[in-house]
Amino acid sequence: MSVISVPQAFNEEDLYVDLRPIFGRSLYLKCEGFNFAGSIKLKAANEMVEAADRAGVLKPGSVLVESSSGNLGVALSVIAASKGYRFLCVTDSRCNLSARLMMEALGSQVHVISEPDAAGGFLGARIDFIRALCASDDRYVWLNQYTNPGNWKAHYRTTAPAIAREFPQLDVLFVGAGTTGTLMGCARYFREWHRPVRVVAVDSVGSVTFGGAPGRRMIPGLGASVRPPLLDDSYVDEMINVEEVDTIRACHRLARHGFLFGGSTGTVVTGAISWLASHDTRDVTAVGIAPDLGERYLDTIFQTDWLRAIYGTDVLTPAEDHWHDLDPPVRTCHRIAF
Ligand SMILES: Cc1ncc(COP(=O)(O)O)c(C=O)c1O
Repeated sequence: MSVISVPQAFNEEDLYVDLRPIFGRSLYLKCEGFNFAGSIKLKAANEMVEAADRAGVLKPGSVLVESSSGNLGVALSVIAASKGYRFLCVTDSRCNLSARLMMEALGSQVHVISEPDAAGGFLGARIDFIRALCASDDRYVWLNQYTNPGNWKAHYRTTAPAIAREFPQLDVLFVGAGTTGTLMGCARYFREWHRPVRVVAVDSVGSVTFGGAPGRRMIPGLGASVRPPLLDDSYVDEMINVEEVDTIRACHRLARHGFLFGGSTGTVVTGAISWLASHDTRDVTAVGIAPDLGERYLDTIFQTDWLRAIYGTDVLTPAEDHWHDLDPPVRTCHRIAF
């Protein structure tokens, strides 16, 4: 029995899905969506707020402010409510309606940026808004997940050791890259570990994180329109870019087997399965990280009209053979080895 008195005290750390029956390749998917914030971002949020508390940055009357595409906002809403702080989430029009409603239900305020900045990105516009806010009123405290070391330290302390404990023979780890907190925390941990682990970053096409051309990205979580300051790619062995249509097909395939995961999980799984298909993986132990679950995407990734409007009808074609036919790997995955 687990008994808790604050929501951030609970997180399911030891749940993995074996994807071999679904995708025909041996991949263990670490499920990070089973906590009161519904995502991996609870760990980063908790680490950053605890550090700010310890440093005396948060005082009575402080208002937390953060830029988030949804999940960190929900996680900070949970923690702010639990600790009695106010929280303002600055997001943009790609934020899922359900994430927004959850934040408001938890007592947070949500500000939606609807115009991109001069460079065409929403992230820059969100950050400009927060900078102006903090300059105008010193009660605002910006944790800044893009630069805050607590973001990666959370995974160095929890996610990576949990994987190492369960998979002492780990060979390859697939991690999605948003702010790169998860990626950098895990990559730093495994660089110091007792055996070599290949760390493969998975990103979406249209993200500039690893030097790709900026492009339209409709699925929140992974990817960035500005290179993440936390990223040190000397820790990353390889990077795979995934098209959103392949992300969606992976999410649908998982759902048809009863596993409703979010968009970034579809991206990580696509990248990982493609990598596994193009390597000799007979004795390879591979793990991927699933950052959240699918309920937040019912009106997007799992909604036919939204999919048709954004990607056309092809995305709805069941690609049953797509996954068993991956030599050569998925056409739309682009790999760069560092
Ligand atoms: C659903 C989802 N997946 C992946 C990520 C990326 O995690 P990180 O910011 O640690 O790179 C996020 C971050 O917000 C997310 O919300």
